[in-house]
Amino acid sequence: MTYTSSTVRVPDVAAVPRHIAIIMDGNGRWATQRRLPRVAGHTRGVDAVRATVESCARQGVEFVTLFAFSSENWRRPTDEVSFLMRLFVTALEREVGKLHANGIRLRVVGDTSMFDDRIRALIQRAETKTARNTRLTLTIAANYGGRWDVMQAAKKLAEQSVQEGRVVPVDEAAFEQHLAMAYAPEPDLFIRTGGEQRISNFLLWQMAYTELYFTDTYWPDFDAEALARAIESYAERERRFGRTSAQLEPQSQKADTLSC
Ligand code: IPE
Ligand code: IPE
Ligand code: MG
Repeated sequence: MTYTSSTVRVPDVAAVPRHIAIIMDGNGRWATQRRLPRVAGHTRGVDAVRATVESCARQGVEFVTLFAFSSENWRRPTDEVSFLMRLFVTALEREVGKLHANGIRLRVVGDTSMFDDRIRALIQRAETKTARNTRLTLTIAANYGGRWDVMQAAKKLAEQSVQEGRVVPVDEAAFEQHLAMAYAPEPDLFIRTGGEQRISNFLLWQMAYTELYFTDTYWPDFDAEALARAIESYAERERRFGRTSAQLEPQSQKADTLSC
């Protein structure tokens, strides 16, 4: 399993994030600004997804996780929800072949039991088709909520206890193997477009030590250049994971300091 807990062991870090998680926000405002219906922003958002995934793959990012529909987005007007569902179907039908040709593995996380049979079948087919690809793992969070994820993992642990007839030991490793994204390392970089500075029930457990980056750019305008700026900002961060700056200095520098 690739999952390594940042609170159990200090993870290795590199200038290019291994895992980027994105809240793609601002589609509605992008459209409203242009006097277009909100849903026009969602349609354009698919282009930004394509550009972002391509750019990440080129730069060697291994995991990209995109928040497409939250467990709270059902609260939106029915028309908008139906449009988003149709867009999801179209995107799955049109894009999976290209993803596969580019060596990209697709995973969908969230409570998919709420989706109709057609969407569920498309997800299943796309995941199976791309399962052996290794260049980049693209995860789409659909009907996903961080609280749902933590709750479903806790339920699975409880069920395991019932099955085994004993209380199974609860530690981070036991818990994390039941999280929806147990196959991925924790996100190194979180990006939220659209100007809001909140997590909106995204990866609550997994973002314990993720670097946060917020931009006012609306999602349909997010492109390779905007992504590069986010990665540049990330490269300048000092990821201490609870330690002091001095502890992060390379060994040789430390030796110099001591010999002075
Ligand atoms: C994000 O854009 C897409 C989804 C939540 C599906 P929004 O639709 O939230 O756009 P704004 O925030 O209203 O501009
Ligand atoms: C978060 O955006 C969810 C997705 C991008 C899918 P929202 O637009 O739903 O978030 P809030 O309501 O502004 O917090
Ligand atoms: Mg929004």
